[in-house]
Amino acid sequence: MSHAATVILEDVHRTYGTGAGAVPALRGISLTLRVGAFHAILGPSGSGKSTLLHVASGLDVPTRGRVLLLGRDLAVLSDAELARVRRRSVGFVFQFFNLVPTLTVEENALLPVLLDRAVTRADRERLDRLLGAMDIARLRRRLPEDLSGGERQRAAIVRAMLPAPPLVLADEPTGSVDSATGDAIVTHLREQVREQGVCLVIVTHDSRVAEAADEIVRLHDGRIVERTAQKPSPTDPSA
Ligand SMILES: Nc1ncnc2c1ncn2[C@@H]1O[C@H](COP(=O)(O)OP(=O)(O)O)[C@@H](O)[C@H]1O
Ligand SMILES: [Mg+2]
Repeated sequence: MSHAATVILEDVHRTYGTGAGAVPALRGISLTLRVGAFHAILGPSGSGKSTLLHVASGLDVPTRGRVLLLGRDLAVLSDAELARVRRRSVGFVFQFFNLVPTLTVEENALLPVLLDRAVTRADRERLDRLLGAMDIARLRRRLPEDLSGGERQRAAIVRAMLPAPPLVLADEPTGSVDSATGDAIVTHLREQVREQGVCLVIVTHDSRVAEAADEIVRLHDGRIVERTAQKPSPTDPSA
């Protein structure tokens, strides 16, 4: 038995613009992202990596093809349903963090939960654990402008992980941190894969990050040119 799917992409195309100026960013991507697996996405700049993450998480809509997130066809959801699915089921770590500049680290982290429901004691305990795991507990009342790039990156990771989403996508999460911090971030995310059965998808240029993945997916010009299974996933019952 292979792992259940978290996301299924079926012949997904995404073209920006129309007519002579159209840019085909994705050209027929079929890919299954699995429960309890870590997939690394590699490829040169402009190959469609960010677009793939956006489409897989419902942040963007394919021009053609289908995306199933946790068994639901995203195309048939209303905007409100899609927003709810994204808040509860998807943790997205943006390449440029997208922290709200007027909110502190902890307010940023709690915002997606607050938009969904009342914050509970369990949320606050999980927030404390995540801030500790990311080594930014002492920075919780700072504004993003008073943080380094690496600290902002880790605040963005805490925010993404707080609702305990089954799908976590990160666009170059180690791009602005030193290698020791990068290793700590990847180790933490990897633990979430193993312990919580999270489906983790990381876009990276960092070969050390890719080495920790269960599968490497290489993109070129909007197509998958190679998929390499690196090792059996530790929680895979068929392994
Ligand atoms: N909002 C946009 N409007 C027009 N073209 C875009 C937009 N976003 C990305 N593209 C183009 O789509 C292609 C893939 O981009 P992207 O997914 O960002 O690649 P990567 O993340 O691998 O660098 C590139 O040619 C890029 O210029
Ligand atoms: Mg990108």
